[in-house]
Amino acid sequence: MNIIKVKDYEALSEKACEYLIDRIRAVEKTVLGLATGSTPEGLYKRLIEKYREGNVSFKDVTTFNLDEYVGLKKEDPNSYYYFMKDKLFNHIDVEMENVYLPKGVVADLEGECSEYERLIQTAGNIDVQILGLGLNGHIGFNEPGTAFSSRTHIVELDASTREANARFFDSIDEVPTQAITMGIETIMESKEIVLLVSGEKKAEAVKQLIEGEVSEDFPATVLRNHDKVTLIADEGALGKVGKSLLLK
Ligand code: GLP
Repeated sequence: MNIIKVKDYEALSEKACEYLIDRIRAVEKTVLGLATGSTPEGLYKRLIEKYREGNVSFKDVTTFNLDEYVGLKKEDPNSYYYFMKDKLFNHIDVEMENVYLPKGVVADLEGECSEYERLIQTAGNIDVQILGLGLNGHIGFNEPGTAFSSRTHIVELDASTREANARFFDSIDEVPTQAITMGIETIMESKEIVLLVSGEKKAEAVKQLIEGEVSEDFPATVLRNHDKVTLIADEGALGKVGKSLLLK
């Protein structure tokens, strides 16, 4: 795992933006894997700025988001569809027909999972997948215990994940109990992965990620089995990682 240590959240967002623009320029018809959560928001803001300045175009970019809540309509302000439109898609020149998120309101959820897999494969797989890190090591919504061999599937959200995400809702009771997420194997098939982690509250999770045993009990550790992963993390997030490991 390549580790890029930056000072703070601003620097992290800046570095991630540079990184992504470089890849969009280098890879023809780039397929991006995108994440929600608060961590990538700074990256999305900067991408919008770079687009406005004429430094990058998303005309030929296809995007796949990691996950979506089950039961929230697209127009629900808490849906990840709404989040992505609001934070990124509404402000750049991506073609909405090239934008994909799992659908959280469909009659056949299992069918939606297979369809999402098919779409990713038809696009030739993801070139660069952006990931955030859950406090319990989840990636996308792959909670602890999820098989490394999992594909896009329906998950029951952990109480801790619902609590962590309750800040976006009026009350915890409104946080959906299920989500649809790319599986771990689906994520691992991305040609390149960029994991963004910021802040002291994630320091223990980052320590586990780097120093803990590779295990389904802490899903993000699977990334150590991928040969092209870049962790961009700030000083707060790397605060508990041994110095010798950072030099590797
Ligand atoms: C959410 C999302 C993840 C995200 C994670 C961390 O539950 N499903 O994709 O990476 O939690 O979120 P944050 O960046 O807000 O800490």
